Amino acid sequence: MALREAAGAPHARILAVGGYRPSRVVPNSEIVDAIDSSDEWIRTRSGITERRWATPEETVQMMAVAASRKALAAAGLEPEQIDCVIVATVSHMLQTPSVAALIADELGTDHPAAFDISAACAGFCHGIAMANDFVRGGSARHVLVIGVERLSDLTNLHDRGTAFIFADGAGAAIVGPSDEPGIAPVVWGSAGEQADLIRQNVDWLTWGNAAEPMEQPYLAMDGNPVFRWASFAMAKIGLEALDRAGVTPEELDCFVPHQANMRIVDALARSMKLPESVTIARDIATMGNTSAASIPLALERLIEEGDAKSGDTALLIAFGAGLVYAAQVVVVP
Ligand SMILES: CC(C)(COP(=O)(O)OP(=O)(O)OC[C@H]1O[C@@H](n2cnc3c(N)ncnc32)[C@H](O)[C@@H]1OP(=O)(O)O)[C@@H](O)C(=O)NCCC(=O)NCCS
Repeated sequence: MALREAAGAPHARILAVGGYRPSRVVPNSEIVDAIDSSDEWIRTRSGITERRWATPEETVQMMAVAASRKALAAAGLEPEQIDCVIVATVSHMLQTPSVAALIADELGTDHPAAFDISAACAGFCHGIAMANDFVRGGSARHVLVIGVERLSDLTNLHDRGTAFIFADGAGAAIVGPSDEPGIAPVVWGSAGEQADLIRQNVDWLTWGNAAEPMEQPYLAMDGNPVFRWASFAMAKIGLEALDRAGVTPEELDCFVPHQANMRIVDALARSMKLPESVTIARDIATMGNTSAASIPLALERLIEEGDAKSGDTALLIAFGAGLVYAAQVVVVP
């Protein structure tokens, strides 16, 4: 006998976004001594002037719930209307249960599907791609996609290559049904042969079982090859995402890349030959690299400051540890 299949919405779109920026502002001056650096070096090499680091109360769950409440309010939805919660994070320190289930409960949702995904800085774009397919495929009607990190917990403050880059925050988006196409096909993939370029330096078990006390595990990065890969290989992926959306660089309104480094943002825009008319998200200057949270936070800022209007097209592209990447064109809510 033939089984029944789910029937979804004709199209999906991002209905709203919301962000949470931790209260503690950390200027470059606060971190330079430990890495023998200077405010000027950090600004020139990364475009970062300050970042936010979470206080003990600003947990992964707390920040994610705050960002989600903002997104729910902006979408005009009640928590019970969410039937799937996807959380992209690499800094929820408990192996299980998933933080998605805890967030779903704290939000007051009605027992939605809830799970975490591990795609590092590209996690949010992976979540948007899945949410798009869930809504159109009939597995869910309203999907809450969250990118949240407390990278300060995994940062070695004496590591010259990362201490000034990584930061904390949360961003959320709600994907739901739409009459018009609002999320174009994703271009995504992995390059596991380069897994060593961004990694946790040692696993928790080895650390916990070490005969001699060891420094807490932290994120290590081979900055130079990551920089080259992100600036050049990812430009091709961005152009492919535009092509699959049927949008030319001249027609694009906004470019919202993962906020890894201002020089990577600029190099990508140059390599893709984006015209001057395209608004480029530059949230990294005051937020640092918040990994999975960086794109929703940057998009929220563009919307709040009037630099992105509802109905605009925006190219999202994210890349990071794995190495993994995902890019898609979306319509701004
Ligand atoms: C981290 C990054 C800024 C380092 O810049 P870089 O130009 O590659 O730096 P290098 O390691 O080649 O070092 C260049 C010089 O700066 C010095 N340097 C390195 N880190 C420094 C720091 N934090 N402060 C001051 N000087 C520093 C080095 O000692 C070296 O000095 P030398 O030329 O006298 O030998 C850069 O590689 C980068 O942005 N990579 C991508 C990181 C990223 O975005 N990751 C996220 C991906 S998700």
